[in-house]
Amino acid sequence: MSSLDGTVLVTGGAGYIGSHTVRALREAGRDVVVYDSLELGRREAVIDAPLVIGNIADSDLVTATCNEHGVTQLVHFAAYKAVGESMKSPAKYWRNNVAGSVELYEACLAAGVHDVVFSSSCSVNGTPAAVPVSEDAPIHPESVYAESKAMVER
Ligand SMILES: NC(=O)c1ccc[n+]([C@@H]2O[C@H](COP(=O)([O-])OP(=O)(O)OC[C@H]3O[C@@H](n4cnc5c(N)ncnc54)[C@H](O)[C@@H]3O)[C@@H](O)[C@H]2O)c1
Repeated sequence: MSSLDGTVLVTGGAGYIGSHTVRALREAGRDVVVYDSLELGRREAVIDAPLVIGNIADSDLVTATCNEHGVTQLVHFAAYKAVGESMKSPAKYWRNNVAGSVELYEACLAAGVHDVVFSSSCSVNGTPAAVPVSEDAPIHPESVYAESKAMVER
């Protein structure tokens, strides 16, 4: 099986970066299914791909989505991303970004997904010693948001 066979599941695909990624994937000829709670995304941003409305922590719905759409690859954008808010409401970020990703990954792996692209953040490197920040720069998160991204990377 080619790595280009099957459908790409894009979590957070109704959000800013996710919706543009969906368009790029469609232009490249890929089948895509968008998975988004719509808590922060917009239904109108999803063009030319089916939309499943749900939370990444809902393993049963993730499993059903993977099986129904023949998902083989995952691009994972769904997360909260406000640094300031993450310092005031750390549990909210830990639950959504970390625990949610664990549930998502477990369900996807069990459904046969074999490639994952995770949308992390340059904030995992903290205040950079040099720019541009390189891939091997040390991990030094300075916020709960950045910690949540670093944890999922690990
Ligand atoms: N925008 C940036 O400058 C930037 C920079 C670095 C990394 N990122 C990362 O890229 C990703 C996308 O960022 P964005 O700017 O497009 O954000 P965004 O808020 O526009 O999109 C995030 C989407 O995820 C959805 N979502 C959030 N939690 C969910 C959950 N539990 N289940 C299902 N859907 C959920 C929201 O409804 C929203 O549509 C995020 O993970 C963010 O941390 C963004």
